[in-house]
This record gives sequence, C-alpha cells and structure tokens, in this order.
Amino acid sequence: MKILHLSAECYPAAKAGGLADVVGSLPKYLVEEGIDAPVVIPKYGTEWIENHRFKTVFEGTAPLGDDAFEFRIQREAKNLLGFPFYVVDIPKYFSGAEIYPGNFASERFTCFQIAVLEWLNYTAERPDIIHCHDHHTGLTPFMLTQSFRYDGMKHIPTVFTVHNAEYQGIFNLNKSELLPDFNQQKIGLLDWDQKLNCLAAGLKSCWKITTVSPSYMQELSQESSGLEWLFQNEQQKSKGILNGIDEQVWNPATDDFITRNYSHDDVAKGKAKNKKTLCKQFGLNPGYPTISYIGRLAREKGADLLPDLFQALLESPEKVNFIVLGTGDPELHQRFREMSDQYVGFFDAALDYNEPLAHQVYAGSDFMVMPSRVEPCGLNQMYAMRYGSVPIVRNTGGLKDTVKDISRGEGSGIKFNDFTLESAV
Ligand code: GLC
Repeated sequence: MKILHLSAECYPAAKAGGLADVVGSLPKYLVEEGIDAPVVIPKYGTEWIENHRFKTVFEGTAPLGDDAFEFRIQREAKNLLGFPFYVVDIPKYFSGAEIYPGNFASERFTCFQIAVLEWLNYTAERPDIIHCHDHHTGLTPFMLTQSFRYDGMKHIPTVFTVHNAEYQGIFNLNKSELLPDFNQQKIGLLDWDQKLNCLAAGLKSCWKITTVSPSYMQELSQESSGLEWLFQNEQQKSKGILNGIDEQVWNPATDDFITRNYSHDDVAKGKAKNKKTLCKQFGLNPGYPTISYIGRLAREKGADLLPDLFQALLESPEKVNFIVLGTGDPELHQRFREMSDQYVGFFDAALDYNEPLAHQVYAGSDFMVMPSRVEPCGLNQMYAMRYGSVPIVRNTGGLKDTVKDISRGEGSGIKFNDFTLESAV
C-alpha cells in the first residue's frame, strides 16, 4: 500500500506550525506499519533544504492556464526522515525560505499541485491513496476527479485532512482558469460564496475528510468561518481522528536540546535541572513556579488574553514567573517587550521561532498555558505532558479531547471553559 502525502509543510525541512510536525511524523509511523508513505512539499529555500542533497527524479513543463511553468521533482538522497521525502522545485514561486509570503498566493500552491499531478500522470508507480493536508492541497482532489488531463487517475481515492479551517485559500473565481481544463459545469465544486475556495473545493471533491480531533470535527459544523453548512453536509464522509506526537523527537530521556535528560524515574530532579538553565537564560528566579506559553501570537490561539492575564498575576501577591516563546501580532510583541522591562526577574519573552529553545521550555517549565479560542488539535499540551509540565488549557477542540482535568482521577492538566480573564485566572 502506498499513501502519498501532499503538504505545504514537513518537519524538519519546512515548519511554520503543527501541520509540519504531523506531516513529518505520521508517515514515519506508517512506514513502520509496512506502508509506503512518501511526502511531497514545495522546495523552499529553508536552511534544512539548502543543506541537504536532493536527486532529481522527474522534470517537466506543466500548464498554468494559457501559460506554462517548468518544475523538477527531487528526492532527498539519504532517506533521512524515515520516509521517502520529495520536493517540487519551481524556482519562480518557491525560492525564498518563507513558507507563506504574501506574493503569488494563488499561483504558488496551484503550481505545486499541478506539478505533483503531472509527475504522477507520467509515472507507472502511482499511489493507492493521496492524502492532502489543508487548503494548500485542496485543489488536488478536484483536479484528480475533474481535469480531463488526469482522467487516468480519477479512481485514486483522496483523503483531505483539515488541520485548520481558519485559513481557506480564498481567491477570485477567475483563478480557476489556472487549472487544467475541466468540465465547466463542475465549477460549483470550486466555488464557495462566489469565490474560489481551496478548502471548500477539497472538502467537496475528496473521498474522505478527516480533522485532527473528534471535538474539532463537531465544532466545525457550528463555527468554521462560513463553511458550517458544508461541514454539516459532508458529515457522512467525515471523521475526527486525534493527532499523536512523535515520541522519537519529543522524548525527555533522549532529547538533545535539553540540559539534562530525564524519565519517569527521575522526573523531579531532571526538571529541576532544566528549570535552572531555563530560568537563568530568562533571568527568572527558579524558586517560583514557572508558567510558559509557546506558539504563534495570534488571536486564534488566545494570545491576546496573555498580557492581561500575566499582569493580573504579576500584580498579585502570588510569586510566579512567566515565559513567552513565539512570534506573531506586532502589537503583542510590543506589549511583551514592555512587560519584560517592567517585570524584570518575573517575566521574559523570546519573540522568535526557536525549535531547540521550545524543547528546553517544555522541560524546564512547571505549567504551559494554552488559552486558545480555537484549537483543532494542539500538540503543545501533549509535548507538555510528555515533559512533565502541567498544561492549563481552554476546554475546546483537541485540548478538550487530550487533557484530563486534575480534579478527575487520572487527570494531568487544568481546564477552563470561558474565554475570559476571570475564568483563566
Ligand atoms: C494546526 C492546528 C493545531 C494542530 C496542527 C496539527 O496547526 O492549529 O491545532 O495541532 O495543525 O494538526
């Protein structure tokens, strides 16, 4: 059985968020189950991609509306990721290190998907299933079933996984002219609210829909930025399946990024050592409880609640430390910078994306806070629990499905319901 994964991200080659973590690990575990699970992403100029060797396996010219573009399919030469890893080289659209720059938004991922289908169309070894992740790959199920050019691959089943329905890839409907010829009567499959909506197109055209937790699957029918009705309508072919974490990457006993490795037996000692390093780095007192936030500084993640929440506790008689690690909203950057100056020794922020540091934060913190408004699955709470930190989470989506409150028998986290300061404090 061969399952080909199409994605915009794959850890460690190109990561912006949790999508990369899942696409970089799920195939590894499929391979362990005896399934051939290659992954293909665009060839960005990220450090990882620049520093590894790729062999060209296919070259071609593909149509893009009335135009054409050249591409190369390349395979990572040493099979370092534990699954066959391919990139699509389209220098015109993907030369920089940034995964989601603003320019060529509609053309970039359209070309990527067309290139993959052109390659498959010419090779004998086709996958048994094509697994598409998020809106960047949502046109693939449509083109596979509707573009005359790919008629020979119509029968290949597609799975479309929604990691985040907040981003839908919405463009002017005339961008559908970029796709290889299809029966114009089927244009409705691309259309949502008279726009070309890549997420909607994927949902309508694929064989099976999955989301990354059962609760999120239910929530999408109630609230999904305009797609509620579509999720309700497609319920028959939909299923919420909880993500897992990659325990080869996230294991405090073997993690190279942390000061001191530890396991279940010496967790208290191990965490104390890691906390010491962490607090030193951020200029905090390791004698106080440390509460950390890691993630995008975005509304969706509830990051806008953090400054007031932290401030309320910093101004209270409680002695607590806070650490923030992440990038995003410039206003929040500003606010956190001010707070670092105001609460020296109690609050600090690394306004950065830093994978090694993230490991140290999980290992050295006592609590990890995730006040998400929306959380399709969330991996950070699982990393926290794996590293012996207590997640404090809003009871939504995947957080609801993965964290058990300590008030219940086996619980290992703290949950709150309302998105308010009172509820979170
Ligand atoms: C997205 C979601 C996050 C999920 C991840 C992997 O980043 O926002 O909740 O864990 O995808 O599926």
